[in-house]
Amino acid sequence: MIEPSTESRSGARGRFLDRHPDLFCCPGCGGRLATGEASVLCQACGHRFPITAEIPQLFWPNEWDPTKDDVTERMKSFYEANPFPNYDDFDSAGTLLDKARRGLFAKLLDDQIPFGARVIECGCGTGQLTNFLSIANRTVIGVDLCMSSLRMALDFKQQNGLERAHFYQMNLFRPSFKPESFDLVISNGVLHHTSDPFLGFQSIARLVRPGGFILVGLYHRYGRLATDLRRALFRLSHDRFLFLDRHASDQNVSREKRRSWFMDQYKNPHESKHTVGEVVTWLYRTGFEFVNSVPKTMPLSPIDESERLFKPQRLGSGLERLAVNLGMIVTGHREGGFFIVIARKPAAKT
Ligand SMILES: C[S@@+](CC[C@H](N)C(=O)[O-])C[C@H]1O[C@@H](n2cnc3c(N)ncnc32)[C@H](O)[C@@H]1O
Ligand SMILES: [Zn+2]
Repeated sequence: MIEPSTESRSGARGRFLDRHPDLFCCPGCGGRLATGEASVLCQACGHRFPITAEIPQLFWPNEWDPTKDDVTERMKSFYEANPFPNYDDFDSAGTLLDKARRGLFAKLLDDQIPFGARVIECGCGTGQLTNFLSIANRTVIGVDLCMSSLRMALDFKQQNGLERAHFYQMNLFRPSFKPESFDLVISNGVLHHTSDPFLGFQSIARLVRPGGFILVGLYHRYGRLATDLRRALFRLSHDRFLFLDRHASDQNVSREKRRSWFMDQYKNPHESKHTVGEVVTWLYRTGFEFVNSVPKTMPLSPIDESERLFKPQRLGSGLERLAVNLGMIVTGHREGGFFIVIARKPAAKT
C-alpha cells in the first residue's frame, strides 16, 4: 500500500506522479515520466504531455490498423459537450457520501474495499465514484478521455479537500500506469462506448496486481431493450414523453444532471450490449476467475446489505443464466439495463 498523501489543495499539479514515479509509465513507449512546470515529460522518448487546468493529459491515441473502426474521438467530443454524470448544484463531500451510500451497490463497495487499497477507475466521467471511494483513506485514481468531466471531478476534489483522489486524462487502450499496479480496477459503463470492448478489457485487466480484482459494468443485451424502445419513441416524438424515464424527468436533481443522463442514454453516438456469458469468456481468455455479478447469475437471488461482493460465488449454469437474462427484459429498465461482473486475477505462484 502507498503512504498517506501530503498533497495540498494548491499544489496538486503533478505531485502525486512525482511521489510515485514507479506507478506511472509513458503511454507511448512505457518509459519513465517526470513532471515539469507545465507538462509531464517522458524521459525515454522525450514526449511532452501538457498539463491543462491542473490535469496531466497523458492521452495517447490508438495506433490501430486504419481499417479498424475507432470511435475514441467521437466519444471524446460527445462527452466534452455532455460531461457525465455531472453534479447537483448543492453537492458536497457530505451529500456525495450520503447519496452514494443510499445506493446499495456504492455502499457495499465502500464497506468492502479495504482502507488503504489502491484503486483506478477507468472512464471515471465527472469523478463521483473516484471522489467517493477516496474519502475512506483509499488512493483512488480516476482517468478519462474527457477534459470537461475531469475538470468537474478535480473541482469537486479541491472544493472538498479530497487529497487521495487523483485525476488524469488517459485513453484506456493506452494506459499510463505500469502493469499490475492496482488492487482494484473499476470500469463502470465505459467499455460499451468503445470500438472494441474486449480489447479494452484486456488493456485495463493488465493493471490488476496478482490476487487483485477487476469490476466492469456493461449494458445488458436484454436489459437495454426498454431503453431502446424509449429511444425510438423519443426520436419519433421529437423528445416528448420524457416522463417515461424517471431520471430524465426527476425534478429533485439539477437540470444539467437530467440533461447529462438524457444525452448519455438516448443520444449517445456509440454503445454495444453484452451478457455475463460473454464476459465469462473474456475472463477465461485473460486468465481471470469469476467472483460475483449484479444481478446474480442464478435466478431469484436478490442482493442485499449482507452481500459479500468480493467473495467467490457460484457461476450459474447456462440455463440459470438464460433465466436471469430473460428476467433482465423486465427488470433492466430501472438503471438503464446494466449489469456488473467482478473477477479476480489469480495470485502469483510462490
Ligand atoms: C457513461 S460515462 C460513465 C462515467 C462513470 N464511469 C459513471 O459510471 O458515471 C462513459 C465515460 O467513458 C469515457 N471513455 C470512453 N472511452 C474511453 C477511453 N477509450 N478511455 C478512457 N475513457 C473513455 C467517456 O469519456 C465517459 O466519461
Ligand atoms: Zn515515452
